[in-house]
Amino acid sequence: MEATGTASNIRIYENDEEVARAAASCFVDIALSSISDLGRFSVVLAGGSTPRRTYQLLASEEYRNRIEWPKVHIFFGDERCVPPTDATSNYRMANEAMISLLPIPTQNIHRMSGEGDAVANASLYQSDLQTFFDDAPWPRFDLVLLGMGDDGHTASLFPGTRALNEREAWVVANWVEKLNAHRITLTFPAINYAANVLFLVTGAGKSKTLLQVLRGARNPQMLPAQLIQPSHGSLLWLVDEAAARDL
Ligand code: 6PG
Repeated sequence: MEATGTASNIRIYENDEEVARAAASCFVDIALSSISDLGRFSVVLAGGSTPRRTYQLLASEEYRNRIEWPKVHIFFGDERCVPPTDATSNYRMANEAMISLLPIPTQNIHRMSGEGDAVANASLYQSDLQTFFDDAPWPRFDLVLLGMGDDGHTASLFPGTRALNEREAWVVANWVEKLNAHRITLTFPAINYAANVLFLVTGAGKSKTLLQVLRGARNPQMLPAQLIQPSHGSLLWLVDEAAARDL
């Protein structure tokens, strides 16, 4: 397999605001081409804190009018096992920063249920995806947004967890020992079938892990972000100088 991080797919920006602006521009560009080619744009949102500013920008006067939001379909890469009103919910973060501010039809918002039984919720989400993608062998998202934790996880694919070995399901409930909790997550083969995958990584706290993921030995059990290598699509890392200081 080729190196995860080649110079061509890593873009380094001065700070997190510039990363957010670059991500918003990529989002718009891919949305426009997807809507032009397919009549719709399917995008998987990342959770955590890094993408919040990108979502806020997309909902701002500067960006919002560039996209036909009624043709946008929103999905989630992972979710915590909490209600959508919980402060840690990825849905709540994206809804407050962007979704609730835009004319996206309710039926186009494919929330990953965090409340209730995690295994059942994962199965339900996979069924929703299979319906949306007309029972295709794999989901062909137009864009998947991802973050990376300082332990090398992405989505809720955490080091040493069972989900890293899943090669058939699109969505699983993943027990994360260090969190003492389940997470619902897309699997890496489901992510890897996307047309475009965009990582957003900022902050000095991630610089050592980013170096290992992009330049270090292949060790996906410990660095799950290395599993993300789209087989039929593009991979781009948008990082700030602080996160890239060791590259
Ligand atoms: C989550 C995210 C997760 C996130 C990383 C980075 O549910 O937490 O999906 O994969 O992208 O943990 O999080 P930050 O952006 O907060 O650093």
